[in-house]
Amino acid sequence: MENNKREEWGTKLGLVLALAGNAIGLGNFLRFPVQAAENGGGTFMLPYFISLILLGIPLMWVELTMGRFGGNRGHGSMPGMFYSMWNNRWSKYIGILGIFTPLIIVIYYTYVASWTLAFSFFSMSGKYFGAESRETMGAFLKGFQGVQSNNYFSSIMPAVIFYLITLVLNVYIISKGVSKGIERLANIAMPLLFIMATALAIRVLTFGTPDPANPENNIAAGLGFIWNPDFSQLTNSTVWLAASGQIFFTLSLGMGAIATYASYMKKDDDVATTGIATAGANEFAEVVLGGTIAIPAAVAFFGLVGAQEIAKGGAFDLGFQSLPVIFQKIPLGQFFGFIWFLLLFFAALTSSVALTQPAMAFLQEEFRIPKERAAIIVGLVIFICSLPVVLFLKHGFLDELDYWAGTFGPVLCAFLETIIFVWIFGMAKGWEEINRGATTRIPKVFFYIIKYITPAFLFTILATWFYQSAIDVLLMKNIDPSNKPYVWGARLMMLAIFIGLAYLVRKSWRMKEQGHKIRQDIQD
Ligand code: TRP
Repeated sequence: MENNKREEWGTKLGLVLALAGNAIGLGNFLRFPVQAAENGGGTFMLPYFISLILLGIPLMWVELTMGRFGGNRGHGSMPGMFYSMWNNRWSKYIGILGIFTPLIIVIYYTYVASWTLAFSFFSMSGKYFGAESRETMGAFLKGFQGVQSNNYFSSIMPAVIFYLITLVLNVYIISKGVSKGIERLANIAMPLLFIMATALAIRVLTFGTPDPANPENNIAAGLGFIWNPDFSQLTNSTVWLAASGQIFFTLSLGMGAIATYASYMKKDDDVATTGIATAGANEFAEVVLGGTIAIPAAVAFFGLVGAQEIAKGGAFDLGFQSLPVIFQKIPLGQFFGFIWFLLLFFAALTSSVALTQPAMAFLQEEFRIPKERAAIIVGLVIFICSLPVVLFLKHGFLDELDYWAGTFGPVLCAFLETIIFVWIFGMAKGWEEINRGATTRIPKVFFYIIKYITPAFLFTILATWFYQSAIDVLLMKNIDPSNKPYVWGARLMMLAIFIGLAYLVRKSWRMKEQGHKIRQDIQD
């Protein structure tokens, strides 16, 4: 049987490290600090933790359970998983979201990952040393990205080379398979990641008051900025959307990536504990380590006003412009810069292989393509689709992909997946599945949370989106007119990929049905 041939994780620790590698990414060290700083600091943390309990952890369990269930039936990607939980001709098409979304994300995520690799080299070699202000670092970054030509970079070639290295590395790792590729990477990268992040957090905490002439710019003020609650923000729906969106993003939920990893679990592997361990490792990396590094450092060196401005400039401003300015001011700055970007690179690489794996599982299982060939096919698709991302960066191509696949898609996908799990597969059966093999039983309140609160929460987010922004977004109200053709291009590309996947899903099911018939005919 084909089921017996499926790959499996080598060890339980390897599984948790791989899942932690999946979840811990640029979101933890760049996106979270910016979101927290922009949405009221300590106030953000309340909706954030509520979303963790009501959305994050329940969905983590649901996706792990669905993944293990589908995997045991030979399906590591969502079309097959949904189909094995809901025997309906449409279920497999809904599951396309679980290949489409990660594929779109990986198209730009790998490119961003390659910037971190490049910047770790530039730190070590001191290439940007001398660009001592945020403005000059901004020019350095833009020159590197090919957005402008300046005295730091005259062409986009270095960026392209680092991108190719990163993409080839990603393809190489997934071509080795789940336990020899992904798990091995996680076993090395994750411990190193925690060591590097801890070292950086300690370094930041010992900044004290870097400039005695400006005593109010210090680490205590930086920590206060992240942690002091501003309760007037608590009823603000924007803060709630940002907090729940961050939970989705950081835990890699709503796109099939967690489910695909879970599909390589054994039949009775513990979903309950694995889910808590994964979420716990991610939250430690995010809240404790991610929360201590970038923003407090920015406050200590740029002051509260400066840090707020940086946060408004977004994650790339914070990570690639502001922190490098700080590295140029501290002893051993080249080394700490190297560590910071290498940390980001490891975080990103372990996530980008996770984003690639759903498409891999789909080709391997539904089309019987060997993993080496599947890796090359997926790698080529990513490469071709990423060309406009690289070339049209300044025209908002990346932002458009990120909006649909990184922000909107996951909520929609999670909503549909909970509906299938709770209302079609059935919560009673689902609860049994979740708890099968668990060493400690999940508290019964989660039965009700998963059944009622999580779907209602997701529905509210979707409804708020429709009400607040659907029309503006669809009609590109907030998009610079000169960028509109590029944004349309991005939408067309996504549509083409979606239709292509729908065609492949249909084809693979046809092939299987015919296979069955032929086998039956032979038996008759
Ligand atoms: N969780 C990742 C981060 O924090 C980003 C991410 C979102 C992701 N969805 C994913 C990574 C799916 C891997 C798979 O950066």
